[in-house]
Amino acid sequence: MNSQPDDTRFRTFGRAKGRTLTVSQQAVMTEHWPRLEIRPGDTLPDGPIWLEIGYGMGSHVLHLARTHPDMSIIGAEPFLNGTAKAVRGAAEEGLDNLRLFRGDVRELMTEMPDRCLERVYILFPDPWPKSRHNKRRLIRTAFITELHRLIAPGGSLIFASDIPHYVDWALTRFRSHARQTGGGFVWDGSDPKQPPENWPGTKYEAKARREGRTPYWFTFTRV
Ligand SMILES: C[S@@+](CC[C@H](N)C(=O)[O-])C[C@H]1O[C@@H](n2cnc3c(N)ncnc32)[C@H](O)[C@@H]1O
Repeated sequence: MNSQPDDTRFRTFGRAKGRTLTVSQQAVMTEHWPRLEIRPGDTLPDGPIWLEIGYGMGSHVLHLARTHPDMSIIGAEPFLNGTAKAVRGAAEEGLDNLRLFRGDVRELMTEMPDRCLERVYILFPDPWPKSRHNKRRLIRTAFITELHRLIAPGGSLIFASDIPHYVDWALTRFRSHARQTGGGFVWDGSDPKQPPENWPGTKYEAKARREGRTPYWFTFTRV
């Protein structure tokens, strides 16, 4: 077993339970969750693996599974209602290349072997804008170290945020990790206001735009 990154004591998410599931959501969960669930320590799916961390209501993780049938997609999200939505989508579309973890992704990551991931998405992580809450942000040095252990050399990391302070915070930490490791993650330098190709959008991104904030995307290569 790998050692737990030392920042797991900070909760990075707010509520994990929202509204009680409807009878029909519960029925979908009962039927399809056992097939879709992945737990820490489970055998990983075959082939190149892409991980989406904090998929929210699931629109992007479903898009990945739908548009990349040859990839194994894993989504991690503690929020029950988001999980139920993603499970319904996967069931309705018959997606068989998607597995879902319900919980803190760090519990899943710590059990994963080195270099097992080809790509990781972290899209609009909870911003925790108040300075006394900044320590709850997911992008922390120990977390970057863990991502670096898991992403294979040449693999990529896509990070998006609409909070300039979080962007600065994250870039500072990626740079200092790269200096310390003599490699780390290298940003591709592309226009941060341009989303990746065929971008479907996410629920949180739409909310950010409605509220007048600008989303930024950063693609890094794991050296
Ligand atoms: C602001 S929302 C963005 C959701 C989605 N990516 C979007 O763009 O609509 C951040 C999400 O990250 C999830 N999250 C926070 N910490 C997490 C963790 N440690 N592991 C997995 N998911 C986490 C939250 O539950 C929440 O759904």
